[in-house]
Amino acid sequence: MSLNVGVIGTGMIGQDHIRRLTRVLSGVTVVAVNDMDQARAQAAAPAGAKVHPTPDALVADPDVQAVVICSWGPAHEEQLLACIAAGKPVFCEKPMVTSEAAALRIIEAEVAFGRRLVQVGFMRRFDADYRRLKAVIDTGTLGAPLMYYSKHRNASVPEGLYTSDMPLNDTLVHDADISRWLLSDEVTGVEVRVPRRSSRGKDLRDPVLVLLHMASGALVDVEISVNIGYGYDIRGEVSCEAGVAALPNRPAAVVTDAHGIRQAIPEDWRERFIEAYDQEFREWIVAAGQGTATGPSAWDGYAATLVADAALRAVDSGRLEAVGMIAKPALYS
Ligand SMILES: NC(=O)c1ccc[n+]([C@@H]2O[C@H](COP(=O)([O-])OP(=O)(O)OC[C@H]3O[C@@H](n4cnc5c(N)ncnc54)[C@H](O)[C@@H]3O)[C@@H](O)[C@H]2O)c1
Repeated sequence: MSLNVGVIGTGMIGQDHIRRLTRVLSGVTVVAVNDMDQARAQAAAPAGAKVHPTPDALVADPDVQAVVICSWGPAHEEQLLACIAAGKPVFCEKPMVTSEAAALRIIEAEVAFGRRLVQVGFMRRFDADYRRLKAVIDTGTLGAPLMYYSKHRNASVPEGLYTSDMPLNDTLVHDADISRWLLSDEVTGVEVRVPRRSSRGKDLRDPVLVLLHMASGALVDVEISVNIGYGYDIRGEVSCEAGVAALPNRPAAVVTDAHGIRQAIPEDWRERFIEAYDQEFREWIVAAGQGTATGPSAWDGYAATLVADAALRAVDSGRLEAVGMIAKPALYS
């Protein structure tokens, strides 16, 4: 039996997810789409899919069993709350929401519903390299993790689409989430240091250096450079008591020519994480088919939002800003 899905937001990642849901994965059918840009929704709609005039109409459609949200972050809260009210499993791209208060409203609604419905798009947790890295740390053979170095480098970001703090309020959530997951730890404080600004970064505060203080005492050092030009380069290295575990360089053909010996670097996130996104949706389809969600939760979305909020405060204050979480509801334990 196929899971009937509606997709809200048919921009860059919405189109990529529609492609994987229609051409790569099985057990799923995109039956409806919506975008505030109707022409874009029309162009992205797979054959036979309905184009709804509003997100609410898509969520209310009885043919839609589960929803994929790929609109902009500030629109996510309203769309998530509509899905929870309708009792429909929902996959929501990061950031889950853009403020602590909004994250708490999602958690409150889901807890009141009584079953997990929300999965947040932290696809790194589904990447084979990150899974192998976590498996090594979890065996404990290297001892306790002490420091984690996370490098998040984008070739470029589209001009005019983001505010100057995009590296902190949009990008950092990935590093915050993967740090919590890899180290099985929580972030308790955030510091931010800003080096000289890259001339390639235009109006963005880019690059930034973020230090996450973890509850265990471990420290996470995050470099975010979103206009580094040469490619999409994601690295991670965990320094433990008795050794170091790192993500491998991405496998690619080794080219030898007059310029030297080299390997290609992924152009963007679609190429680097193509298999992780596929796996993320494979697991989501199974859970959504059972009326629930099992991947990164609204709690994880909340935690990442708090880190982004603290980073924004830290960039202004120049100090260590505390991250204070509410008690974890049983639904997320
Ligand atoms: N997981 C990842 O690695 C990853 C990568 C890229 C983008 N994202 C996230 O995915 C989301 C979309 O990013 P994108 O790059 O596709 O952006 P985009 O601008 O290319 O597309 C967003 C689309 O959503 C539509 N939209 C916005 N608000 C809407 C609303 N209220 N109702 C209906 N449609 C609405 C826009 O018209 C646009 O077509 C963002 O939250 C972004 O952070 C995640």
